[in-house]
Order: sequence, then C-alpha cells, then structure tokens
Amino acid sequence: MTAVHRITEATAGHHGRPVYELRGVTKSYARGNLKALDRVDLTLNEGGFASVIGPSGCGKTTLLKIMAGLVPPTGGSVYLQGTPVTGTRRDIGMMFQHATLFPWRTTIENIVLPIEIRDGRAAAKAKHADALALLDLVGLKGFEHRRPGDLSGGMAQRAAICRMLITEPAVLLLDEPFSALDELSRDFMNMELQRICMERQATAFLITHSIPEAVILSDVVYVMSPRPGTFVETVEIDLPRPRTLDMMTDRKFGEYVRHIRTHLDKGAFL
Ligand SMILES: Nc1ncnc2c1ncn2[C@@H]1O[C@H](COP(=O)(O)OP(=O)(O)O)[C@@H](O)[C@H]1O
Ligand SMILES: [Mg+2]
Repeated sequence: MTAVHRITEATAGHHGRPVYELRGVTKSYARGNLKALDRVDLTLNEGGFASVIGPSGCGKTTLLKIMAGLVPPTGGSVYLQGTPVTGTRRDIGMMFQHATLFPWRTTIENIVLPIEIRDGRAAAKAKHADALALLDLVGLKGFEHRRPGDLSGGMAQRAAICRMLITEPAVLLLDEPFSALDELSRDFMNMELQRICMERQATAFLITHSIPEAVILSDVVYVMSPRPGTFVETVEIDLPRPRTLDMMTDRKFGEYVRHIRTHLDKGAFL
C-alpha cells in the first residue's frame, strides 16, 4: 500500500510546536485491580487534529480524563504547554457524547456557565456578546433564549461546542461528541467541527468509534489495542484541507479506512 505510510510517533502531525506531551502514561484502577492504560506516548502539535480509535473498554475515556486533569495517571507524565497537568485547567475544553445542558437554563445561559462557575455572574454576563458570536458560528443564531428542550440533538451538541469554546481553550478534548446523532447530522457536524478548528487554529484530540470519521477529520489517527490500551499504529492522513464529504469516495480515503480496520481487527485478537 503506497498511499498509507507509517510514521514515527515523534513526527506525527506536521503542524506547529508541541502542545501536549504524554510520556509513558499508565493507569491502573485500584477497584477491580484493573490496568486500563499501558505506557501511552503522545505528542499533539499546535493546530493539529488527532484521533484515537480503539475497541470499547480499551481506555480511551480514561486517557482523555487524564489529559484533562480529571483523573491522575498511575505512571508517566502529562505536559500541556510545557507545564505538568495536575488538575483541571482553563486552557482545556472538553466535550462528551451527551450535551448535558441544564434544562432550566436558556441556551446562552448554558453557554456562559463555565465563565459563571469560574469568574461569577457579572463576568458571565459580560461574555454574552461572545456567546452570541459563537451561536452564529455554529448556526444557532436566534436560539439564544430557547431552552434545551426546544433543541434537536444536533442543535444541543452545537450549543455544547459553544460552551466548550467560550473559555477560549487552547486544546479541545472530544469524547465521541457526535456518536448519539444520526449519520447525516453527524457528517454535517464533523464538517462544522473542522471549520471551527481551522478558523480558531485549535488543537483537537477526538475519540471515536468510527474509522471514516477519524480519517476525514484527522491529520493523524492512533489505533489503540484492547485493554490495557496502548497505541499500536499511527497513521498520518495525507488528504488536502479543507476536507469535504466527497473525499469519502476517494480511493485514497478507502485505503486509509481499510488500513486502520486491519490494525483494529488484528488488535482485537492479541
Ligand atoms: N473509575 C473506574 N474504576 C474502575 N474501573 C474503571 C473506572 N473507569 C473505567 N474503568 C475501567 O477501565 C477500562 C477502560 O475504560 P474506559 O476508559 O471508559 O474505556 P473506553 O472509553 O475505551 O470504552 C474499562 O474496563 C472500565 O470498566
Ligand atoms: Mg469511552
């Protein structure tokens, strides 16, 4: 296979300077005496989009929580912007499978909530103009005073994107953010995510179950082994940007998908 070439971890992604650096990250959960992660090395470069794909239960969410400072690793080190991650930080934005908006708050009140928690009500109020600009960015203009009950699943996820971006994080950690959506909405949201990341030059790290989603969005895809999770393959995706959904019918796209699938299948029987 010529279109797909392996690269070393150290050179993954051809963007700017390293933003995240993980070395030998290991995680054992005392409860159940269970080893979830085994010596994960990862470098995320500024402005790059990386994905991780792996079987259910292999430790993907654990990895993301460690990167976010929500869970301490048992071994190894995690550096963000040159300083060790020892707890939650302002320069990290996170998004999960479910939007988890508060139903009694309006869309805009949900979006400025991280600011309210961090800096108080006045600061949150002062961010309303920024929140409106973000709503415009994700195509939710006019929905600022509606409550989550009035929003579709895709709209709620878009509001969750705004809530993630309001603190202007340097990195976006995304744990299967669109997997609850139907395929059409998901394709659309993926293109939106790409646009937002390109506009804001964000560094993104996406966990997904979908190989096509990983390939269409990423500069580099990491394939994880079953638990204890570790990276077994690194695939650089050499497709031009901006990516379009049409590219999913390209021969090269199909080769990437097959290549990753082969490694996932192999990993499942290790
Ligand atoms: N807080 C916890 N305590 C004990 N075991 C956990 C905890 N969180 C996750 N695990 C276990 O660690 C493994 C990896 O979980 P997770 O990171 O959620 O995997 P994934 O996101 O890849 O599906 C699973 O076997 C899971 O049951
Ligand atoms: Mg998970």
